[in-house]
Amino acid sequence: MTTVIITGASRGIGRATAVKLSHCSQVDNMVLIATNYDGLLETQRQMSSGVHSELIVFDLSQLWNIDQMVQSIYDKYGSIDWLLNIAGYADPQLLLDTTIDNLSQTFTVNFFSMAILTKAVVKFMKLNEQSQIVNVASTAGSTPRPGWSAYAASKAAVINFSETLSEELAEYHIAVYCVSPGRTATDLRKRLAPEEDPTTIMQPEDVAYTIYTLLTDETQCLAGQDLIVRNKKM
Ligand SMILES: NC(=O)c1ccc[n+]([C@@H]2O[C@H](COP(=O)([O-])OP(=O)(O)OC[C@H]3O[C@@H](n4cnc5c(N)ncnc54)[C@H](OP(=O)(O)O)[C@@H]3O)[C@@H](O)[C@H]2O)c1
Repeated sequence: MTTVIITGASRGIGRATAVKLSHCSQVDNMVLIATNYDGLLETQRQMSSGVHSELIVFDLSQLWNIDQMVQSIYDKYGSIDWLLNIAGYADPQLLLDTTIDNLSQTFTVNFFSMAILTKAVVKFMKLNEQSQIVNVASTAGSTPRPGWSAYAASKAAVINFSETLSEELAEYHIAVYCVSPGRTATDLRKRLAPEEDPTTIMQPEDVAYTIYTLLTDETQCLAGQDLIVRNKKM
């Protein structure tokens, strides 16, 4: 039985990934996490009915409750095999305009919650023969974006965290992938570039396809690297 946890599953890249993975014959249970219940329901509606799915309304910035949530998922399904850290937050501000709240929320959602969720899940993944983790970072994590310092720095943390864990968790046969999308047509991107025509950039399904391939193609050896996903034709 393969049980998958996906954060950020209520829209955008997380939704597209959940829909894509629901058609994967290897997957039995999918646990979808976000704060917007209607968004999660819509994701579930788009998924294949052949997979069992559970919706969990949970605010990932509630760091101290993450352990308990993971414990209850493990108690219910008996294993956690794939973890997809996709949830993200962006409210870019210039250094002199930013606030403690902005810095804190950006790092809490993009990095601390992901690190704490991963820690809680790895405790159980260690018991499996093989497990996989996908962390979604961003091209902003490795290239300068004036005005985006908190977001970009939080994504740089995700990249380094993933590369480090890839080596640290190898002894437990846990593969850690880091996917860094470029511009992708989602709500988050709309906030960053309101004037941009979303039909001219990459679609969430393109990123979902890459994540799906990483998880299902056993011949690839791409763990522990910052994998840039960008449509060069656009
Ligand atoms: N779009 C791009 O151009 C782009 C480029 C590079 C990287 N990325 C990364 O890709 C990932 C997905 O982003 P997206 O573009 O698909 O954005 P999106 O459509 O805005 O989706 C963001 C997801 O994160 C969830 N989320 C945010 N804060 C949360 C919280 N406190 N607790 C639980 N869930 C929370 C949202 O769910 P709720 O609102 O329901 O809570 C939503 O499902 C992010 O990590 C983002 O940084 C995006």
